[in-house]
Amino acid sequence: MDIGVIGAGYVGLTTAACLAEIGHRVFCADNDLQKLDMLRKGDMPFFEPYLDSLVQSNRVRGRLEFTSQTEGELSRGEAIFICVGTPSLENGETDLSAIEQVGRIIAQRAREYRLIVEKSTVPVLSGYQLQKHLALYRGDDQFQFDVVANPEFLRQGSAVEDLLHPDRIVVGVDSSRAAELMGEIYRPLLEQSFVCPVHSPCKPRPPVPLVLTDLNSAEMIKHAANSFLAMKISFINMVADLCEATGADIEKVAEGIGLDPRIGAGFLRPGIGFGGSCFPKDLRAFVRTGEKFGCDFSLLKEVERINARRIDHFFKKIKDELWVLRGKRLGVWGLAFKPNTDDIRRAPSLEIIRRLLAEGAQVQAYDPQAMEKAKTEVPQIGYCKDPYEAARAVDALLLLTEWEEFRTVDWERVRGLVARPLLIDGRNLFSAAELASQGFQYIGLGRNASALTEAEQVAFKALGGG
Ligand code: UDX
Repeated sequence: MDIGVIGAGYVGLTTAACLAEIGHRVFCADNDLQKLDMLRKGDMPFFEPYLDSLVQSNRVRGRLEFTSQTEGELSRGEAIFICVGTPSLENGETDLSAIEQVGRIIAQRAREYRLIVEKSTVPVLSGYQLQKHLALYRGDDQFQFDVVANPEFLRQGSAVEDLLHPDRIVVGVDSSRAAELMGEIYRPLLEQSFVCPVHSPCKPRPPVPLVLTDLNSAEMIKHAANSFLAMKISFINMVADLCEATGADIEKVAEGIGLDPRIGAGFLRPGIGFGGSCFPKDLRAFVRTGEKFGCDFSLLKEVERINARRIDHFFKKIKDELWVLRGKRLGVWGLAFKPNTDDIRRAPSLEIIRRLLAEGAQVQAYDPQAMEKAKTEVPQIGYCKDPYEAARAVDALLLLTEWEEFRTVDWERVRGLVARPLLIDGRNLFSAAELASQGFQYIGLGRNASALTEAEQVAFKALGGG
C-alpha cells in the first residue's frame, strides 16, 4: 500500500521504516528541512538501535523516501499515519495543534478516499474531534475518509523490535472499510510472516493479538497503559524506601512479588524515577482528562508526586555521604533517561546535576550516546571520553543510567583513579557485595546487602550446598 507518515520524529521514523520493511511504499514527511537533509544523506537525527540500517536498506530498495511537509505531499498516501508531536500545555493538557493542522491540510487537499491513522498519543475523544473537523474542512469536495486510532507502544532503545514484534496491535475504528485496511497494512506483523532483519535467523513467533475496538477505547488504552506502568514504578520506589528504613531488600521483594503472574516482573526496578518524553507527559494528560470529566484521579497524582520526590531522595543520599558539596568532585555515569537511547528529555540525571552544580560541586560525566544532547542542557560540566576519565579524582561516582557498558568496567582501574572509592547507585545496577570485593563503599536504593547475603547462605546450606 502507499502510505504517508507525517512526522519524522522518534515514532514517525520508526513507523515509516518498519512499514517499509514489511512491504509498503512509504513516504515520510517532516517540516524540519535540516532533519530531512540529514536523512537523505543517510545520517540519523537520533540514536535508536537497528533503525539506521532499516532506514538505509529501505531507501536503497526504493520503498522509503523523505519529503518535505508541503501541502501536496501531506495528502498523498492512501493511508496517512499522523505521527506529529503532542507536547504538554502549561496546564498538563495535550497540545493538539499539530494534529489539527495536518488534518486541515489533508481535508483541503485530498481528492480520493483517505485512511487517516492517529498514531501520536492523544487524549480520549481526539479521534472524534479529528473526524468532525476533517468533515468541516473538506468543504464541498466530498472525498471519503476514515479516522483510526492506532496507538504505539514503542520503547526507546528497543523501538524497532517493539514495532516488528509487538505484543499487541490496538486498532480503534468505526467502519469496516477502515478495519479491513488496517488488517491489510499490519498483516505481515499479525501473521509474523516476514523475515525480520533484527533477528537473523528470526525465531518463529505466535501470531500477534489484534485488539479491535472503537476510537475512544483505543485512545484510552494508550494513556491507561503508560499510566499503569508509571504506577508500578512509583509503587516499587515507595516500597524501596520502606525497605531502606527497615532493613528489607527491595531486589528480593520485587522478585518475590513479580513472580505472581497477576503482578508480573516488569517495571518493578526501583530508581531515581521515570523520565523521557512519554511517561511524565502521558500521566499528566491522563490526570487532566480524568479531572475534566469529574473523575477522581488522585491515585495518579500520587504516582507523579512520588516520582518527583525520587530526586530529593537520591540527592539526600549524596549529601549524607559527602556532607558539604562545595568543592567536591562528582563523576556521573549515565545521562540518558534510560539505556540504549541518546534521549535526555526529562532525564533525572540532568536535575541531579543541576542541583549538584547549584551547591558548588564540580561534575564530570560520561554517557555512551547522550553527551552531545546533554551539552546543550548542561554545558558547564566536564564531558569525558569513557567511564574511567569520569572517575578521575572524584569524591564519589554516581550511576544514573544503567548502560550495559558500566556492568563490565575494570574496577581495579577505576579504584586506582578515584579519590574516594564510593559509588552511589541510582539504578541498583551493582550490589554491595560486588563492590566491596573491589574495595568500594556502595550505596544503592532499598537494599540490605548483609541480610541478603546471610539469607542466601542459609538457603544454600538448607539445600545441601557448601
Ligand atoms: C514508554 C512505554 O514503555 C512505551 O510503551 C510507550 O509507547 C512510550 O513510553 P519509553 O519512554 O521509551 O517507553 O521507556 P520505558 O522503558 O517505558 O521507561 C520509562 C522510564 O521508566 C525510564 O525513565 C526508565 O528508567 C523508568 N523505569 C522503567 C524505571 O524506573 N523502572 C522500571 O522498572 C522501568
